[in-house]
Amino acid sequence: MPRHFLSLADHSPEQIRAYLDLARQVKLNPAGFREACRGRTLAMIFQKPSLRTRVSFETGIFQLGGQGIYLGPTDIQLHRGETIADTAKVLSRFVDGIMARVFGHQDILDLAANASVPVINGLSDLLHPCQVLADLQTIEEKLGSLAGRKWTYVGDGNNMAHSILYGGALMGMTVAVAHPRGYAPDPEVVTRARDIAARTGGAVQITEDIAEGVADADAVYTDVWASMGQEAEHKERLARFQGFQVDAAMMARALPSAIFLHCLPAHRGEEVAAEVIDGPQSVVFDQAENRLHAQKAIMIKLMGDRW
Ligand code: CP
Ligand code: NVA
Repeated sequence: MPRHFLSLADHSPEQIRAYLDLARQVKLNPAGFREACRGRTLAMIFQKPSLRTRVSFETGIFQLGGQGIYLGPTDIQLHRGETIADTAKVLSRFVDGIMARVFGHQDILDLAANASVPVINGLSDLLHPCQVLADLQTIEEKLGSLAGRKWTYVGDGNNMAHSILYGGALMGMTVAVAHPRGYAPDPEVVTRARDIAARTGGAVQITEDIAEGVADADAVYTDVWASMGQEAEHKERLARFQGFQVDAAMMARALPSAIFLHCLPAHRGEEVAAEVIDGPQSVVFDQAENRLHAQKAIMIKLMGDRW
């Protein structure tokens, strides 16, 4: 198992399976893991806002017998010029793990390269692997299996699209990304996801045709049109993403049994219609809950004694 949790693509399908199995056990029997990270401390660096990531990690480490320390954008010295490397080295003398939410993905890589304790990626501009581990857990719970399922992401080729490409490909799924022109996922990520899919029996489909992307999907996913840090582009993106809203008509192109997922926070009336996110196919709050279980599994494996 890799020492850090930076990208799903650093893992084998068997390692992701091990995380999913442990996340399931943790959810079924939380009391059995009360001591799993006893006395351990997790530093939680946030360069951006968060509801789910912050609360699920802080609650999760507490439930495992440890404690979290929230380090917001102006709490530490990074914004005053202290280097990532020095921050990682100092934190490693105090704590047992570092979770970080950053802008540039290189910051996560630099933290990991300089820390002697495990580093967990709590979202970068490139990837959001903790979210997708929880998403895989949710899809498996709801549909009973992952391999062979079609998972369609509609919207911006962003951090969510990238981690879904990796996570779906690793688990042998067909991942379709339907994106507006000019907002394709990173070609390097797509190539790597295709290589993974070639080994797992999965497939990757990238299209600007939303109907083709959503056709016969088992799971339909979307995310905000302007991510954190892209606020200045919001208006322009609203115009360029017209036609990419997941509404009831689009869900009707997927399988009748299809589920709808969204990492949240959501903007009803933009990337998703209220009738879908608040409708019977939506599993978004189960997804949010599974952040807790999936991340407890990550912390148990990387920071716990017995694992
Ligand atoms: N989905 C997610 O990561 O939510 P937050 O930004 O609230 O942590
Ligand atoms: N793409 C979004 C995901 C939020 C969880 C963002 O980066 O803001």
